[in-house]
Amino acid sequence: MSLYPLIRPLAFALDPERAHRATIAALKLAPKRRPPDFPASLRSTVAGLDFPSPVGLAAGFDKNAEVPEHMLGLGFGFVEVGTLTPQPQPGNPKPRMFRLAEDRAVINRLGFNNQGQAEAWLRLRECRHLRGIIGVNIGANKDSEDRIADYVAGVQAMSPVARYLTINISSPNTPGLRQLQDEGALRALLSAVSDARERNGPPVFLKVAPDLGEGEPDQIVRAAIQHGIDGIIVANTTVSRPALKSKHRDEQGGLSGTPLRALALKALRDFRAASGGQIPLIGVGGISNADDAWERIRAGANLVQLYTAMVYEGPGIARRIVLGLSERLKREGFANIAEAVATE
Ligand SMILES: Cc1cc2nc3c(=O)[nH]c(=O)nc-3n(C[C@H](O)[C@H](O)[C@H](O)COP(=O)(O)O)c2cc1C
Repeated sequence: MSLYPLIRPLAFALDPERAHRATIAALKLAPKRRPPDFPASLRSTVAGLDFPSPVGLAAGFDKNAEVPEHMLGLGFGFVEVGTLTPQPQPGNPKPRMFRLAEDRAVINRLGFNNQGQAEAWLRLRECRHLRGIIGVNIGANKDSEDRIADYVAGVQAMSPVARYLTINISSPNTPGLRQLQDEGALRALLSAVSDARERNGPPVFLKVAPDLGEGEPDQIVRAAIQHGIDGIIVANTTVSRPALKSKHRDEQGGLSGTPLRALALKALRDFRAASGGQIPLIGVGGISNADDAWERIRAGANLVQLYTAMVYEGPGIARRIVLGLSERLKREGFANIAEAVATE
């Protein structure tokens, strides 16, 4: 039985950012567990990496790479740490993270608060012996005069300690960052990233926003393939505001959780239509159970990630989804998860 229903009221009595810090602190004290044995039907190879399960932890929960091993032990098939910027930075003034409990959502405008890549590098170096997949999400400092140079620095610095890298150009909380998704800027960025990669370096994913205009997924897919990007993560939080009940609904920032689900699913379908399976896709946004994960995989996701649902459902969520997915595969007659991708 999960203890989370008992703990949740305590966590929810705290302001969300404090609750998050307390959670990381508690995880650090807890003994590390070996990752569970996943059903063989959930294993798949994506971008050359062998994923033991398609259910990963999305970026933003473990920004500073403090507990990636613990999160693998809780049953996530892969863990993405970050966003990490070259220099440490404090992020935006508080309060900057809001729980929208009635909507099963979160709004955040943290603004890449993180301890910087050098600190995280030291911790990640200690994880290199692990079999589990730890990806590193990199970004640009808010006051950087050359954002592309920040991504290049991130690729060079973090490649040795990352099983994959994610180029995050879709956070709504660093002014101007998302303009890097525009065609000219994106091509300049991806060309610089491509030059910075070592021949034997890790695969590189690109993380996009769900708030794109008509035709943008096509442009992004074309640029990504031409510049050797290994996968696209669809999507980050949204600046749009679907109907919400909570009093925090008008807070500025990126919205995640259940109200993002339909938008992120549509974005994924757009990227699948644009790519026709030529580049792996990672589906994220509003996934909170096995049905959501299954729907995303059928719509074209090779892998999925989640964050906000863990706030509401507790850390056992990864294992519950894994169980549900393996039952689903059996019921629908698929031998392996890879066979179910893009079959809707
Ligand atoms: C509090 C919070 C912080 C986040 N920080 C980051 C981040 O630093 N980098 C990033 O790429 N995504 C970040 N995200 C976005 C998530 O990785 C994910 O794309 C988004 O929340 C949608 O998934 P979800 O609905 O399962 O939470 C953050 C999300 C939340 C809720």
